[in-house]
Amino acid sequence: MAASQKIFSAICFCFFLLALCTSAYEVSHDGRAITIDGARRVLISGSIHYPRSTPGMWPDLIKKAKEGGLDMIETYVFWNAHEPSRREYDFSDNLDFIRFLKTVQDEGLYAFLRIGPYICGEWNYGGLPVWLHNMPGIELRTANSVFMNEMQNFTTKIVDMVKNEKLFASQGGPIILAQIENEYGNVMTPYGDAGKAYIDWCANMAESFQIGVPWVMCQQSDAPQPMINTCNGFYCDSFTPNNPNSPKIWTENWTGWFKSWGDKDPHRTAEDVAFAVARFFQNGGTLQNYYMYHGGTNFGRTAGGPYITTSYDYDAPLDEYGNLNQPKWGHLKQLHAVLKSMEMTLTHGDVSTIDFNNSVSATIYATNESSSCFLGNANSTNDATINFQGNQYMVPAWSVTILPDCKNEVYNTAKVNTQTSLMVKTANKAENEGATLSWSWRPEILKDTIFQRKRYVSAHQLIDQKAATNDTSDYLWYITSFNCEFKSLFILTLLKLGSEWAKYGVSNSVFEQKVQLNPGRNQIALLSVTVGLANYGPMFDMIQTGIPGPVQLVVQKGDETIIKDLSSYKWTYKVGLNGLEDKFYDLDSYQTWKWQAQQFPINRNFTWYKATFKAPLGTDPIVLDLQGMGKGFAWVNGFNIGRYWPTYIADEDGCDVEVCDYRGSYDSSKCLTNCGQATQRWYHVPRSLINGDENTLVLFEEFGGNPSLVNFQTITIGSVCGNAYESNNTLELSCNERPISSIKFASFGTPQGTCGSFQKGSCEATKDALSILQNACVGKNTCTIEVSEETFGAVDCGGVPKRLAVEAVC
Ligand code: GAL
Repeated sequence: MAASQKIFSAICFCFFLLALCTSAYEVSHDGRAITIDGARRVLISGSIHYPRSTPGMWPDLIKKAKEGGLDMIETYVFWNAHEPSRREYDFSDNLDFIRFLKTVQDEGLYAFLRIGPYICGEWNYGGLPVWLHNMPGIELRTANSVFMNEMQNFTTKIVDMVKNEKLFASQGGPIILAQIENEYGNVMTPYGDAGKAYIDWCANMAESFQIGVPWVMCQQSDAPQPMINTCNGFYCDSFTPNNPNSPKIWTENWTGWFKSWGDKDPHRTAEDVAFAVARFFQNGGTLQNYYMYHGGTNFGRTAGGPYITTSYDYDAPLDEYGNLNQPKWGHLKQLHAVLKSMEMTLTHGDVSTIDFNNSVSATIYATNESSSCFLGNANSTNDATINFQGNQYMVPAWSVTILPDCKNEVYNTAKVNTQTSLMVKTANKAENEGATLSWSWRPEILKDTIFQRKRYVSAHQLIDQKAATNDTSDYLWYITSFNCEFKSLFILTLLKLGSEWAKYGVSNSVFEQKVQLNPGRNQIALLSVTVGLANYGPMFDMIQTGIPGPVQLVVQKGDETIIKDLSSYKWTYKVGLNGLEDKFYDLDSYQTWKWQAQQFPINRNFTWYKATFKAPLGTDPIVLDLQGMGKGFAWVNGFNIGRYWPTYIADEDGCDVEVCDYRGSYDSSKCLTNCGQATQRWYHVPRSLINGDENTLVLFEEFGGNPSLVNFQTITIGSVCGNAYESNNTLELSCNERPISSIKFASFGTPQGTCGSFQKGSCEATKDALSILQNACVGKNTCTIEVSEETFGAVDCGGVPKRLAVEAVC
């Protein structure tokens, strides 16, 4: 080839590459589906919020989402994290949402950008910056020019950043959908006409950005065109959008639920999530998004509520640490594959349904070439046996059977053939000094706060904590003084807010404390502590925080009760704590010599503790066991891993003792565990925060605790169970990257019980299941077994479906 030809080819190749990199694709929709470059699609999406993990975790999480059969990753954009002070922005580390979107793109997945910028999300203040609240003349989430100006400023900034990186599909990027506002329809009535005007303004603003991909508004039944209104909930099969040309989109399929301090652990079964998804697609759905696919962690002060825990595990298909939550992940993966195999018929077929009564129905999607069918049984107790197109099918209660060719059952939502993985925690093997850490400590010196008075503000009233702090800290000191004529024992009474968990609200209760006052001037200092700000409800932003008053001193003098109301005294306000201001948690913090190893205190309030530790070996996720501690914050190498509160015990009652029944409508009071235990004892320490050699842990303890039990552990699979039905199924068992060490139980027939407590049933096949499993699996990381009479021998269990139950130790 001549040199000029070579150059010509090289230029062509470059153009070709350029075209590949930047070629835009058209995303549109019709009443039937979302279309990408003209092709109608069935889309499976999952929420992964970038600030709830670390950049080091993103590639693995997104890869596992892709392996789980997802087409798309959804994330909110977190305004208060990005603009902590007005016009000062932060897009660093785990706030680098552009890098997150590029990671999604690198995996070849689509992205769904829910800008909000009000997001709810159990995130502090629903994602709105608290400084907004303190702007003169502002009203949040309504037709108020001060608010709209700020919202427009931030939204424009985000859209511009995304456009500059060419991340919208119209520019060749991964983003095929965007969202403005969030569930405003749920709360808009109290905002009256201004609310309606606001939502119209949101729609106009969104449209004006010309991003070239559709916008959605979730839970907004009056969404102005061309906004697509979408559904959020545990079930969205009966939802219809407000425009016949809008596709049926489910923006939030709640895969579990969030947890608050004092709550038990919520679980939603794999069977029920799969049932909800299958019904959605049976009834004409086109896109469904798991909220959450990976819940992750509310690091630092990001948890909302009030009283949302640091863990945001959500019982999602990927657990807080990024491990597969099995069987949920695998059971849904199989469902996605079946649905994808039917994409053509689902998006082009003529639809017809047959009603079999008793909440049993068949839906047929038929094109000229082929057809696909769903057999749905929404009855929560009765299994159904139906004759359909000449064949008989048993559809268990609360399940959907999928027949991709309208004949062969390929999937039933209630038949879980994926392994259950039981995770275990193991001690930090790198600590050759033994399990205990060696600590140094220093006090938070309260006297400094109360008497030094530098940079304090004051007012002749009790002020709302948000106004005083701009929410830069959980802590606000309210300090005043009182002149006393005589020495006496007073009772200090004050109204305190939210000392108990109150769902989405405030519980008002009176706090009383005996105080000894001396003649002359007495200082009174009250410390108010927030645990996340409200994130949901009409005007949630106005919910009061701090000490609302009245604050009174009450003394009994003979028969007379004297009340001194201090509410309008001169109060001095001090935000935060000295240790926070001086960054005791920071490795470079000065005064390192002030930490002492002697007279190490236990159960001392307002105490800082510090220890060094070695990186736990291996690659398994790391958790910090804070058993023995009271309440406070923990930092690893200067990174705030969140609020801790292991002394907050979950309710004693209401846990499911036996198996949790997947049948019937799920709500967050079903299938609970962890009764009577610490709401959260273990705290995730992402490996990306850990150095190879020495690492530092700092705790700030408010109540008083005993750090001697504190230790690091790693999380790994302890055992796996298979519980697969016979119907052309293969069961796969995997201990991840470790070999299966033994088989504890195996039986083919009608075994009873659940993972960890299997027992043989009355019916069992002839061959020895245990030795078959031992031969096939022991010593291997992964093994597969045909669940059939061929493998285990013939047996008649009187019509009861046969299954294989196995427990293997990793
Ligand atoms: C929805 C909201 C989400 C999240 C969810 C519950 O109402 O849109 O952001 O708060 O509830 O986890």
